[in-house]
Amino acid sequence: MKVVIIGSGNVATILGKLMIQHNINIVQIISRNIEHAKKLAEELNTNYTDINGLVDDTADLYLLAISDASLTESLLYLNIHDKPVIHTAGAVSKDVLKVLSPNYGVFYPLQSLRKEMKIIPPIPILIDASNVYTMELLKKMAHKISDSVQIANDETRQKLHVAAVFSNNFTNHLYALAEVFCNREGIDFNLLKPLILETANKITEASPDTVQTGPAIRKDLITIEKNLNLLSEYPEMKSLYIIMTDSIINHYR
Ligand SMILES: NC(=O)c1ccc[n+]([C@@H]2O[C@H](COP(=O)([O-])OP(=O)(O)OC[C@H]3O[C@@H](n4cnc5c(N)ncnc54)[C@H](OP(=O)(O)O)[C@@H]3O)[C@@H](O)[C@H]2O)c1
Repeated sequence: MKVVIIGSGNVATILGKLMIQHNINIVQIISRNIEHAKKLAEELNTNYTDINGLVDDTADLYLLAISDASLTESLLYLNIHDKPVIHTAGAVSKDVLKVLSPNYGVFYPLQSLRKEMKIIPPIPILIDASNVYTMELLKKMAHKISDSVQIANDETRQKLHVAAVFSNNFTNHLYALAEVFCNREGIDFNLLKPLILETANKITEASPDTVQTGPAIRKDLITIEKNLNLLSEYPEMKSLYIIMTDSIINHYR
């Protein structure tokens, strides 16, 4: 299978590396910024151009790994003659690609990806397509690079995206706030890392609902009060602490 990747950021880089590892032929990288296109093309040992350049028309598939906002801008620079075209966004409808080809779809990697990551984690792939032909192509490619492949329409992907924001983006933000707090209070944040890992690991064996601990589920109002006093100089953390505590108490009521 020959693929052109449009984009040169996190997803383009990681999916590009995975494709190469699994003998999928990347024939061209196209990116808005030619320097970014060049850098990724060198890494993947392929050709490159910017979005005003000549698109390689020999590919079997065109993969757009560009920002959500730019997917809804004009994509007509991509003249692909009805070839299959897909994007990688969880929260954008597949139909934005209708203008480019009747054969379109989505290839959503449900993982937090950074182009700098040295070890590529397992990536569930959620696919959707405008027709059977494109779906079969996507299944074939997804199964090559992932052990976990499911079909998910626009609505399901949007819902999964909400769940992913809670499970990943919000928890990471809470770690970031805890780190700032530790640094300002002269405490070693590293001490918390085994606890963070243990909490994440636990849910591989049990529902998170059954393993909640802490002062909120115990309704330990004295400890909660003491913690809030320590947060008097951290108004943002204090209001999040109150919201999360109320949420846990209400959840287990
Ligand atoms: N990162 C993740 O963990 C993750 C996971 C699942 C899905 N996704 C989805 O994958 C897509 C790409 O995410 P990413 O993390 O790879 O983003 P990213 O690292 O920020 O890269 C964004 C890419 O979009 C290009 N771009 C931005 N604005 C553009 C425009 N107006 N026209 C053309 N190209 C434009 C950039 O090109 P230049 O650098 O050349 O300007 C860059 O290559 C998004 O739809 C995102 O929702 C991301």
